[in-house]
Amino acid sequence: MAAPGAGGGVPRHIAIIMDGNGRWAKKRGLPRKAGHAAGAETFRKIATYCKDIGVEYLTVYAFSTENWTRPQDEVQAIMDLLEKYLKESIEKMEKDGIRLRILGDPTRLSPGLQALIRETDAITDRVQGMQVNVCLNYGGRDEILRAAKAWSEAGGEMTQEAFSRYLDTGMMPDPDLVIRPSGECRISNFLLWQSAYAEFYFTDVLWPDFSPRELDLAIESFRKRDRRYGGVK
Ligand code: FPP
Repeated sequence: MAAPGAGGGVPRHIAIIMDGNGRWAKKRGLPRKAGHAAGAETFRKIATYCKDIGVEYLTVYAFSTENWTRPQDEVQAIMDLLEKYLKESIEKMEKDGIRLRILGDPTRLSPGLQALIRETDAITDRVQGMQVNVCLNYGGRDEILRAAKAWSEAGGEMTQEAFSRYLDTGMMPDPDLVIRPSGECRISNFLLWQSAYAEFYFTDVLWPDFSPRELDLAIESFRKRDRRYGGVK
């Protein structure tokens, strides 16, 4: 498929903070969980589009270590959507050529979700294709602390490269482009270590309304950036 985003300059790794589901629902007089359901559909469409245009890694922020403070029924609705997505992916991952990884600390998740994550990991290991990372009970600071603990237990050389391997993203490349819809311009504890040299793209569009066209606009903006990594050209 000749997608508009295709061709040179497609970021290798795109990360997205899927924000604005609640406001999207409120504008329509719907409960917040309807916004998350719409957001989950958008995520499916965007993941497919990323695969079509040759993105190698897509990382999305689905539930943060701070999101547990939300009303119980909203937390449950998000967990139900994730469970549904995991079950669906376990069936289709090999056919679709999508490697799915759940990043974050699984220990606070329900035993059912933890079992689905283990099942997903086992299948993903034998799939070739685009990698989709869903961050679940994820926080950048929490990830850095967990990595530091694992690193100090293992010992070994103290370099940035060696430390990175203990992060949830392991050997994956850092994100090139971080997108946050919904008009908020902050990082909210997302990929703190990994986004050191990422390009950021903010848009007012609410996540459920985010479309492949919006992704093309983000990529178009990314292509115009002059990435210097602290150096000069
Ligand atoms: C932020 O919007 C969104 C979340 C905390 C949940 C994101 C979850 C999904 C899109 C559904 C599950 C995902 C998958 C991968 C199947 P918000 O609720 O903070 O919106 P608001 O700022 O407008 O209130």
